[in-house]
Amino acid sequence: MKRPLKIGLMDSGIGGLSVLKEILKYNVDLEIVYYGDLKNSPYGEKPASTVLELTRNVCHFLLKEGVEAILLACNTATSAAAETLRKEFEIPIFGMEPAIKPAILQNVGKKIALLATPVTQKEEKLQRLKKELNAEESILGVSCPGLAALVDEGNFEAAERYLLPILKDLKDQNVENVVLGCTHYVFLKPIILKNYPNAILYDGNLGTVKHLLNSLGLKTLSADQTVSRKSVYRLILNTNNNSQYDLAEQLLRLESKI
Ligand code: DGL
Repeated sequence: MKRPLKIGLMDSGIGGLSVLKEILKYNVDLEIVYYGDLKNSPYGEKPASTVLELTRNVCHFLLKEGVEAILLACNTATSAAAETLRKEFEIPIFGMEPAIKPAILQNVGKKIALLATPVTQKEEKLQRLKKELNAEESILGVSCPGLAALVDEGNFEAAERYLLPILKDLKDQNVENVVLGCTHYVFLKPIILKNYPNAILYDGNLGTVKHLLNSLGLKTLSADQTVSRKSVYRLILNTNNNSQYDLAEQLLRLESKI
């Protein structure tokens, strides 16, 4: 029997689980090793050179695990490290991209908010993307230092308190299109919509997963919440705190609203 393709997913913490969850909706045969670098999270407020170093270390770890491709399921790691690591590693390295393209194309002339970490906001990759899309004027960058850490802690009440003034500000400015440019923030969608029901949210997870599976030669005919999950995954979290494993499993459950 043909063995499943083994791939690695990495993130600074548990944000990348929102991408893993998207992969698991597809009826594809993958063996997935997920590495959450919780001991070093958050990445988004560190110098880009440190994020590169940390991401490289995780990729070497995953390579030793025998993965045949790696997805940086983290916008911050992608911004700071993807280009360099693609030159250093022989296996394919995939990454995330904030979903500003669909947001811009569907809302010509409107302001779009981009919630992301300070590193993602600052890095060259985003500046290039904005230029390509001629979107420098329409993107309202909102840096959210500290927000991903609250998700890693499972502190969704504090995350809600953090978001309230940001969402009020967006409402006051009539900015309804909000791009979630950090994989952690995807778990905050229900909180955002509860407090700002008119918001239209965009994230890069679906696009990234389709691109990943197509590039790996896997058929992606249907993403179905009801099919039994075929891929198997193993979580490696760089933490001694077992409650973070419980939180991770909870977030991965299909019925989980978060
Ligand atoms: N999940 C990561 C991202 O997509 C960042 C979180 C962090 O700051 O570590 O940007």
